[in-house]
Amino acid sequence: MNPRYSLPAAELTRIVQDANARTRLLVDDLSDEQWLGPQLAIVNPPLWEVGHVANFYETFLLRELEPQRAPLIENGNERYNSFVIDHDDRWDAPLPDRAGTLDYARRVQAEVLRRLQGQAPDARETYLHLLASYHEDMHDEAFTYTRQTLEYAPPRFGGEGGGAGTSMHGARQDAGPGMGQGAGPLPGDVEIPGGEYRLGATEDEPFVFDNEKWAHAVQVAPFRIARAAVTQAEFARFVDAFGYTRREYWGYEGWRWRNRENAHHPVYWRWREGGWQRRHYDRWVALEPHVPVLHVNWFEAEAYCNWAGRRLPTEAEWELAAGAAPAPDGRGLAPGKRRYPWGDAPPTPERANLDGERLGCLDVAALPAGDSAWGCRQMLGNAWEWTASAFYPYPGYVVDHPYREYSAPWFGYWRVLRGGCWATRARLIRNTYRNFFLPDRRDVFAGFRTCAR
Ligand SMILES: [Fe+2]
Repeated sequence: MNPRYSLPAAELTRIVQDANARTRLLVDDLSDEQWLGPQLAIVNPPLWEVGHVANFYETFLLRELEPQRAPLIENGNERYNSFVIDHDDRWDAPLPDRAGTLDYARRVQAEVLRRLQGQAPDARETYLHLLASYHEDMHDEAFTYTRQTLEYAPPRFGGEGGGAGTSMHGARQDAGPGMGQGAGPLPGDVEIPGGEYRLGATEDEPFVFDNEKWAHAVQVAPFRIARAAVTQAEFARFVDAFGYTRREYWGYEGWRWRNRENAHHPVYWRWREGGWQRRHYDRWVALEPHVPVLHVNWFEAEAYCNWAGRRLPTEAEWELAAGAAPAPDGRGLAPGKRRYPWGDAPPTPERANLDGERLGCLDVAALPAGDSAWGCRQMLGNAWEWTASAFYPYPGYVVDHPYREYSAPWFGYWRVLRGGCWATRARLIRNTYRNFFLPDRRDVFAGFRTCAR
């Protein structure tokens, strides 16, 4: 918590209402059957997840601020705390039905908004409001993955209204919704001098998660990093070179994963009529050559790099490429760091593809106004980017977050992703934000950019 940072009640009200509205856009058009959905390790049933989001506000905001208040639902912790109810039990849990779940969510929101009426929130209350809203934003991003995973229709937010394309069984193959838009490829590397870089969030940051604390000096050797993420056309060359069946490109764990899954190509690709197609929600579209490859896991990214004679950036290299600038004399790094690749001004649609507005990725050459100081493009938005780094705490890490399980249970084997994707909320993302997933996850809207060896 930043003790000097508080937001006006009107601003917090707007954020809470906006997060709530996004949730409703993601779940309201689903059938009752889809509210439960199939039992998979990588999704939650919306019936549980909607209640879980509401219960998070109740637990970490309302009851944190008013410990004596009566609960708004019985057994909320047992039903909705992700560390109490096992993932596989969420489909059979004694949950309220759809109407009861929405009623609980409405009652929680009314209480949250009531707290904001006629008072000026202090720094702690601001922090707890943002924590609960950002938690909802993360689940809303997960709902957009779930709809892709389960072949549901595209979500109904965004300016494209579901976009072009055709049904899964149709013959037409249009460009995907919001995809590409003609900006083309952006080949080549930029050269970045090494030096001492301060990795992590600085103490003037308004809101930080525990895993970003705090900025600390790391030494980074000079490196060359791609201006853009790996595209679908580039990844298709690896697939067409039988990269998935050539042992020499895969790490030990990756090869085990490849054999277990019998993977031959990215999870949502298929070969039809002499070309690759990819599934975008409930429809199939031809590959858009200059759009970043999505839905590849860390092992697939590693194998591609080995085939291409490249490597993944470490998270320090990634953040330096996004957040540092060259010194005025052209030697080494300028002091200080940028909040976003382009500077400290907030994201706009011209700088970063965020907030779900385009319902998909743009070509890698789009949005030059969002370039980093070194000319790296789309480091925020479009596609999450896997890094080489396992998820570990920064030096001096302590669990001082009311949401104690946010990071600590996942340190070690999970891998760090940076930069956000097209579905990430702009208010959540910045250069120092660390996301983390198991290396075998393919449902995330994640791709990668590479470095020269
Ligand atoms: Fe959660």
